[in-house]
Amino acid sequence: MHITIFGTGYVGLVTGACLAQSGNHVVCVDIDEDKIARLTRGEIPIYEPGLEQIVHDNVRSGRLRFTTDAEAAVAHGMLQFIAVGTPPDEDGSADLQYVLKVAATIGAHMNDYRLVITKSTVPVGTADKVRDALAQALNERGVDVAFDVASNPEFLKEGAAVEDFMKPDRVVVGVDSDRAAEHLRALYAPFNRQHDRTIVMDIRSAELTKYAANIVLATKISLMNELSQVADRVDADIEQVRKAIGADHRIGYHFIYPGCGFGGSCFPKDVRALAQTAGKLGYETEIINAVERVNDRQKQVLFDKLSAHYGDLAGKTIALWGLAFKPNTDDMREAPSCTLMEALWAAGAKVRAYDPEAMKETRRIYGERADLTLCDNAEQAVEEADALVLVTEWHIFRTPDFADIAQRMRAPVLVDGRNIYKPSYVAQAGFTYYGIGRSAASGATRHVV
Ligand SMILES: NC(=O)c1ccc[n+]([C@@H]2O[C@H](COP(=O)([O-])OP(=O)(O)OC[C@H]3O[C@@H](n4cnc5c(N)ncnc54)[C@H](O)[C@@H]3O)[C@@H](O)[C@H]2O)c1
Repeated sequence: MHITIFGTGYVGLVTGACLAQSGNHVVCVDIDEDKIARLTRGEIPIYEPGLEQIVHDNVRSGRLRFTTDAEAAVAHGMLQFIAVGTPPDEDGSADLQYVLKVAATIGAHMNDYRLVITKSTVPVGTADKVRDALAQALNERGVDVAFDVASNPEFLKEGAAVEDFMKPDRVVVGVDSDRAAEHLRALYAPFNRQHDRTIVMDIRSAELTKYAANIVLATKISLMNELSQVADRVDADIEQVRKAIGADHRIGYHFIYPGCGFGGSCFPKDVRALAQTAGKLGYETEIINAVERVNDRQKQVLFDKLSAHYGDLAGKTIALWGLAFKPNTDDMREAPSCTLMEALWAAGAKVRAYDPEAMKETRRIYGERADLTLCDNAEQAVEEADALVLVTEWHIFRTPDFADIAQRMRAPVLVDGRNIYKPSYVAQAGFTYYGIGRSAASGATRHVV
């Protein structure tokens, strides 16, 4: 099939590369000239395991091309995917300007039937707006060209995006015509060899499905983080609780890891956007609002633990391991590390940090500043530090030589933001250990309940 993808970010680039890999002819178009120039030179602008190889292979075979020429891109694909950003507006609702701009661009250039598929995460009812934008553009040209619109939300996870796209749990397709359903079933057939994972539904339900999935996952995280706060106060160990409740099949082990809050480009904005959508329709969401509030509070937990230990943090040096919002990505959007660093700087502390992939992005966001030292490796980051904070659980941080780390630090204090270390083992190396909801495990003073 001939396919055009608007937007070459995390979703657009992965979608384009994976669809080319399954034999389609794909043109990826972006308005960011620098990004397209880099992609054309063979540089991958984001870090995503396995992506570089697929992009290179398919560019070489001629099945994947990059351009800024929207007119040529509209001429290329019968299937036109919209995979541009939907950032939060001032009030938290999704900003649709980029999606609707693409729809208008397609309408301005299309001369034959086009199936316009929204892959971006968009509020329920957006397909109607896409349809209107297309119709208006055609009307302005005085032409009558047939088209369909569809919703095909994307469920890939950054850090495992290629794997998720190639082996999806399900492919959700929202359509209002048989023609659109047939094209999308054919497109996804190569990803359905084992059994059919395509779920075809009406467009509005497909649009809502994406928000529903992210909100259920975000709720699990916030709920567990709330329980970890209780565990801290009653002197219990949330990790033992987690293992015991995860064994219940109705609960399961996924997404019940307590930590320092969720970040990234999706959960925070999608939680806010659905609450906004419901609010505008006169329904105030209670649980969804609480998911966001609990998360905002949880992102402060690392700073609070450092403050509780030291009191005044002015003049202290804090080492951070991990900056990306999760492992295997360089994405820093809404990362807990940002909340922590900004609070530390406001308190007059200095930060020394190391992340395997996100240091360039950190520098881009914060620039050169005297209170931020980006280090070449994990050991360098802890030199003369008053505390070490594990923020992102990259594999490389899993089994450090704690005796050596303690030697390098001014004071052996460890805040484990992801509960990846065994408190008794760390204590043997002389560390004072603080986990998330693990006061029992770390031997803290018993509270009277
Ligand atoms: N990142 C994820 O893990 C993920 C997962 C599932 C869904 N989503 C959703 O997918 C959408 C895209 O997310 P992303 O993380 O890939 O965004 P991104 O910010 O990484 O990329 C968006 C790209 O769109 C380009 N763009 C903007 N206007 C354009 C136009 N008129 N024509 C062509 N290109 C244009 C931008 O230059 C940018 O390169 C969002 O709605 C997001 O919520 C993201």
